[in-house]
Amino acid sequence: MAGDLTIDTERLELREFCRDDWESVHEYAVDPEVYHYMPWGPNSEDETRAFIERAIASRHRNPRLHFELAVTVREHGRLIGGAGIRVADEGFRAADMGYCLRRDAWADGFATEAAAGLIGFGFKRLGLHRIWATCDARNTRSARVLEKVGMKLEGTMRDDTWLRGQWRSSRLYSILESESSPRGTRDQVDSGRAPLDEDRR
Ligand SMILES: CC(C)(COP(=O)(O)OP(=O)(O)OC[C@H]1O[C@@H](n2cnc3c(N)ncnc32)[C@H](O)[C@@H]1OP(=O)(O)O)[C@@H](O)C(=O)NCCC(=O)NCCS
Repeated sequence: MAGDLTIDTERLELREFCRDDWESVHEYAVDPEVYHYMPWGPNSEDETRAFIERAIASRHRNPRLHFELAVTVREHGRLIGGAGIRVADEGFRAADMGYCLRRDAWADGFATEAAAGLIGFGFKRLGLHRIWATCDARNTRSARVLEKVGMKLEGTMRDDTWLRGQWRSSRLYSILESESSPRGTRDQVDSGRAPLDEDRR
């Protein structure tokens, strides 16, 4: 369908979610180590299905501002997680991004590759100026990913989130268009359309 988006990196294909993905997503959405630092989880099956439905629905918005994509390994097509970039407002040219992988896919550089792909997409195809991300201040793995893709630490937001009975602090990272490089991506994004650009016409 027009508007289907894929982002290709060296080993990954970030693609649109489809309804059949829900079981693969649910497997990691109930893993305590995976959702430990996330604002969701453990998901009920209904919550996972609703997540997929929201991702599918976001494709049909015009302009499209949310891009929640399945992270798949190109070699065998397995879905190993999700990654997304969300434009705050069409005029602001700023977006936040995030990612989450199933546990047996950790420590292989996949999150770094997916994040680099999102950043390339955000700057080259969406015409963004700034991309930001937050992570729980204790989530050292994610902080490392954000550093590896060239994001800079802006600071710590103290006790900004009430999560599972306690306050948590978040680290805020960002990267600007002028600081980005295509490292980690194949510098190609296959898309039925360039979402914001076309919508601006
Ligand atoms: C955070 C997450 C996405 C990282 O995925 P990943 O594919 O393992 O990340 P990468 O392999 O690209 O990079 C991980 C880096 O963290 C480092 N690392 C691993 N364990 C670590 C630890 N306990 N403390 C600090 N760094 C650690 C790795 O060595 C690697 O850095 P390096 O390349 O310099 O050696 C994954 O753990 C995950 O999905 N966690 C659950 C969901 C989540 O927290 N999402 C992020 C929300 S902000």
